[in-house]
Amino acid sequence: MKHVLLGVTGSIAAYKAAELVRMFVDAGDEVRVAMTDAACMFVAPLTFQTLSRYPVSIDSFAQPDGWKPGHISLADWADVAVVAPASANTLAKMRCGIADNLLSSLLLATKAPVAVAPAMNVGMWENPATQENIAALAARGIEVIGPETGFLACGTNAKGRMSSPAEIFEAVNRLAAARPRVS
Ligand SMILES: Cc1cc2nc3c(=O)[nH]c(=O)nc-3n(C[C@H](O)[C@H](O)[C@H](O)COP(=O)(O)O)c2cc1C
Repeated sequence: MKHVLLGVTGSIAAYKAAELVRMFVDAGDEVRVAMTDAACMFVAPLTFQTLSRYPVSIDSFAQPDGWKPGHISLADWADVAVVAPASANTLAKMRCGIADNLLSSLLLATKAPVAVAPAMNVGMWENPATQENIAALAARGIEVIGPETGFLACGTNAKGRMSSPAEIFEAVNRLAAARPRVS
C-alpha cells in the first residue's frame, strides 16, 4: 500500500483521471486528490471525492484538518505524486517554482517522487516554451509520461493526448518502487 497524491489540472482529459483513481484504490493504495480551479470546470470534485473516499483539496486557504497547512500535509503524506492531466500552465509553474495554488504549492514542497502526464493541444505541446519546461522538469528527475499521438479534443490527430490511465498507473507504480520515499 502506498500514498498516491493525484493532481488534476484544467484539461478535457481530466475525466480520465477518475479511472486512474479507481485503479489505485482497487490496487489497495490510498489516494488523495488535489484539483486546480480550472480542473473543477471539467469534472466535479465530488467525482474524485467519492472514488478516492476522501475530500478533494482545492483551496490553499481552506480550513485544514489539523494545524498544518493543507498543501504541506499533502506534500508530507504522499509517497508518490502524479499530475494527470498536466496542463501546459501547471507544467510551466512547476518548472519555475511558482506556488500560487494548492497543487503547485504542494508540488514545490513535496519530497516524494513526482510524475506528470501532459495533455494539451499540439500547438501548446510543440511550443518551445512547453518543450523547454518539459526538458527542465525531466532533467530534475520528474517522470514525464507521454503524451501520445491521437485524436485530440481540438479536432486534430496529433501529439498531445494524455497517456491512458493504465499506462500512467504502471509508470507511477514503477516510479514509486524505484524511488521509495525516504523522509
Ligand atoms: C475546453 C478547454 C479545454 C482545455 N484543454 C486544455 C488541455 O488539454 N491542456 C492544457 O494545457 N490546457 C487546456 N485548456 C486551458 C487550461 O484550462 C488553462 O490554461 C488553465 O489556466 C489551466 O489552469 P491550471 O493549470 O491551473 O489547471 C483548456 C481550456 C478549455 C476552455
